[in-house]
Amino acid sequence: MHISVIGLGYVGSVTAIALAKAGYDITGIDIDENIVSSFKKGNLPIYEPGLEKLLDEAIKEQKIRFATLEEVDEIGEIVFICVGTPSLQNGSVDLSYIRKSIKWVLERTSGPATIVVKSTVPPGTGKKLIRQYLSNTRLSYISNPEFLREGMAVEDWLHPDRIVIGGEDKESIERIKSLYSSIDAPVVITDITTAEMIKYAANSALAIKISFINEIANLCDILGADIDDVARGLSLDPRIGSGFLRAGLGYGGSCFPKDVRALDFLANSNGYSLELIRSAIIANNRQKFIPVKTLKRRFYDLWNVPVSILGLTFKPNTDDIREAPSIDIMNALLEEGADITAYDPKGIEKIRRIFGERIRYAKSPIEAINGTKAIVLVTEWEEFVRLDWQEAFKRMQEPKIVIDGRNALDYKLLKSIGFEYYGIGRGRR
Ligand code: UGA
Repeated sequence: MHISVIGLGYVGSVTAIALAKAGYDITGIDIDENIVSSFKKGNLPIYEPGLEKLLDEAIKEQKIRFATLEEVDEIGEIVFICVGTPSLQNGSVDLSYIRKSIKWVLERTSGPATIVVKSTVPPGTGKKLIRQYLSNTRLSYISNPEFLREGMAVEDWLHPDRIVIGGEDKESIERIKSLYSSIDAPVVITDITTAEMIKYAANSALAIKISFINEIANLCDILGADIDDVARGLSLDPRIGSGFLRAGLGYGGSCFPKDVRALDFLANSNGYSLELIRSAIIANNRQKFIPVKTLKRRFYDLWNVPVSILGLTFKPNTDDIREAPSIDIMNALLEEGADITAYDPKGIEKIRRIFGERIRYAKSPIEAINGTKAIVLVTEWEEFVRLDWQEAFKRMQEPKIVIDGRNALDYKLLKSIGFEYYGIGRGRR
């Protein structure tokens, strides 16, 4: 079966390569010539653990080819749409790439074919798109939201918690369901708007959970309780569950911030106010500035204070810096006149495009730390957890502060070495 995948970003590239590995003939399509030419050379243009190997195999097995929109001749019976749906200024979602993709499909086929939207679109979008573009055609529409975590996307594709398929006609639903037949996971079959809502509700629930544990952590800091033990105590209750209870500097990335804003906008524009989600957004915005507050309290004046930032991507094991807390933290510190040296295993080039000469870039964590008075760990890359902290201590200037923004470090070790250690909600320590 021939399948096209439009949009070769973090979601589309996993979709295209994984379906090719499942034995389907895939055409991976993107508007961006650089992305397509990179794939044609066999190079993955993003960093996603495990995916490059699958790409190599799929190319060798001749199951995948890549093309720009203009180059495509035949698009097959199924077209996955995995294009970006960025936030607009007011929090709503820009659907222009989705619309362009649907028009492009209509120009190339009169069907029968199935359009499968994997991009995250607000509940109600699919129904409107069908009315606008597909009502008198032989093209059907399926909503098939993705639940892939960056850095874990291959694993999440192969072992998902669930597969959600929203559609109007049974035949298309069955066709899409059969694509996943080799995957062992519960399948939720529903209507299109409900499938779209499941995606937003899932990301909102997780964002709320993060903001909840962060608020409890902040209170732990005030009252002298220990968030690590609180989280463990909570996680043993299966009704609460153990995931997403890591307190830190808040969520970032291309999904949670955008999706909770979009749901809030959608509710407002339909005359309803999502109070819980609004609070989660406010709490998350406040959370990322904790290191700035701590440093200002500690130094009062941050002018020329050398600070190192460890971790620039929004989380470890990705090169994605979209809505990364590091960006807001560094902007706020620069505003105060701090002298910043930053390091990240994968994110430096993208950060350099934003900050240019305004900060220094190091080639290793120790180089970043050298001569600084304070370290802010923003992203918990393994490399930082395993760092030679004795050596780091020797390289720093007094007062040798470590702000562990992800509670990732061994605080006992750091304190015994002599660091002034601050975690998030590790108050008693
Ligand atoms: C998230 C969801 O987890 C995926 O299921 C979903 O498919 C994806 O968004 C999407 O909508 O496409 P992702 O953004 O890759 O995936 O990253 P997560 O691992 O979920 O982490 C998101 C943010 O929450 C990160 O900034 C992370 O540091 C933060 N986080 C996560 C915490 O602060 N505490 C936690 O306990 C867990």
